[in-house]
Amino acid sequence: MSTISTSLPELKQRIESREARIGIVGMGYVGLPLALLFSAERFRITGFDIAESKVETLNSGGSYIVRILPEHIQEAQRAGFSATSDYSEVASMDAVIICVPTPLNEYHEPDLSYVTGTVQSIAPYVRAGQLIVLESTTYPGTTEEIVVPLLEKGNPHGLKVARSVGDIGLHVAFSPEREDPGNDTVARHDIPKVVGGCDPGAVELATAMYGSIFRRVIPVSSPAVAEMTKLLENIYRCVNIALVNELKQLCMRMGIDMHEVIDAAKTKPFGFQAFYPGPGLGGHCIPIDPFYLSWKAKEYDFRTKFIELAGEVNIGMPYFVIEQTAAALNDHRKAMNGSKILVLGLSYKKDIDDLRESPSLTIIELLRQKGATVFYNDPFFPHVGRGRHYDLNMENTPLDNIEQFDAVLIVTDHSTYDYKDIVNRAKLVIDTRNATKGIQSDKIVRC
Ligand SMILES: NC(=O)c1ccc[n+]([C@@H]2O[C@H](COP(=O)([O-])OP(=O)(O)OC[C@H]3O[C@@H](n4cnc5c(N)ncnc54)[C@H](O)[C@@H]3O)[C@@H](O)[C@H]2O)c1
Repeated sequence: MSTISTSLPELKQRIESREARIGIVGMGYVGLPLALLFSAERFRITGFDIAESKVETLNSGGSYIVRILPEHIQEAQRAGFSATSDYSEVASMDAVIICVPTPLNEYHEPDLSYVTGTVQSIAPYVRAGQLIVLESTTYPGTTEEIVVPLLEKGNPHGLKVARSVGDIGLHVAFSPEREDPGNDTVARHDIPKVVGGCDPGAVELATAMYGSIFRRVIPVSSPAVAEMTKLLENIYRCVNIALVNELKQLCMRMGIDMHEVIDAAKTKPFGFQAFYPGPGLGGHCIPIDPFYLSWKAKEYDFRTKFIELAGEVNIGMPYFVIEQTAAALNDHRKAMNGSKILVLGLSYKKDIDDLRESPSLTIIELLRQKGATVFYNDPFFPHVGRGRHYDLNMENTPLDNIEQFDAVLIVTDHSTYDYKDIVNRAKLVIDTRNATKGIQSDKIVRC
């Protein structure tokens, strides 16, 4: 085990010359693309993951994320990329970036066990002068209250986290991941990187490291400010999505097309940002992150009413979709009980292969509870089995015989679907995403 320390100017120089070794813990949707970005900049990256199957796939030049091709992994391998589950390799890293999951537990409270597990695993191998950055989304205070004490307690050399200029110790920072999977309108390196450090050295090093792959780095005064920045961004989305989801329900009663309203409102060149209604929230971020803050707020005798209200509206959306589907079937003299329903799209948003917290999963379960026979089609999922909150065990249904279903329910508006053809062949289409915009047919119910 190496105990050699690196001085701040030395490490900065190693970053600038691309000699710095960077370890990224968690080779998932965030960590793996980040590893590839650094590799493309000629850094030698080591990816750490506890899932042996992921380590094996990566080391054999393969990929398990649809939008990352095996060729991308192989290109990174040529720049020195490799994966491991052996934490002792942390000792040879100059910087370690942590990108592990931060879900909610069954009581809807933050589950930081992946973060604490990771920090406990790396702590025995850290050394003075290293930069440790947490990227996992979490509540303000996590870096200072959880990560720092575990690093200080768990390393055998009595190393402390640096606090002021000139301190010899570990440089610790928080830098939120702000990626939007499937959104190709902004290149990843054009998304500014926010960094808050426990000491000025951490900010200086993190700025140098991230500045080599991101066009702009935004230093803030503390890890807590960086943690809160990420939560503000996601709460802003969550609250605004809830607002349009609620107004959509009112507009439906009033006979107004909410999408037409949003299209008109967004022509205003200032003061309005368009958000779109849908069948409910999904993904690892928007349905979860706001509750990290609600939970933390209780420590300060504070109730985050906007977050709770937005959660209430958004969680209700799959139930609203079920009511609308039952009403549409009723108009066709059909009961939901015994109907054959094809759900189009499983992933939580279009054109990505991510099922986490997807409203489709809740909708399928609710349809089944009402006695419907449910099928699904999704180009990204040939089969869907069990996950954290679902147990479906279903196979992908091809789109050959759309005529046979009593209703086709569009939950995810993948770009590969030919919506005109689907509407032509279906008996009834319930569209929760405005995917059939511009198609005139009395078979379509938009909700
Ligand atoms: N996916 C997104 O779009 C996105 C965007 C912004 C922020 N985030 C945040 O980034 C973090 C990571 O999310 P993700 O989507 O990449 O998760 P993920 O589940 O895709 O990947 C996490 C990886 O960490 C690994 N892992 C878990 N515990 C580990 C441990 N102790 N040691 C090593 N590896 C371990 C898992 O095996 C998995 O491969 C979360 O906090 C999330 O909220 C995600």
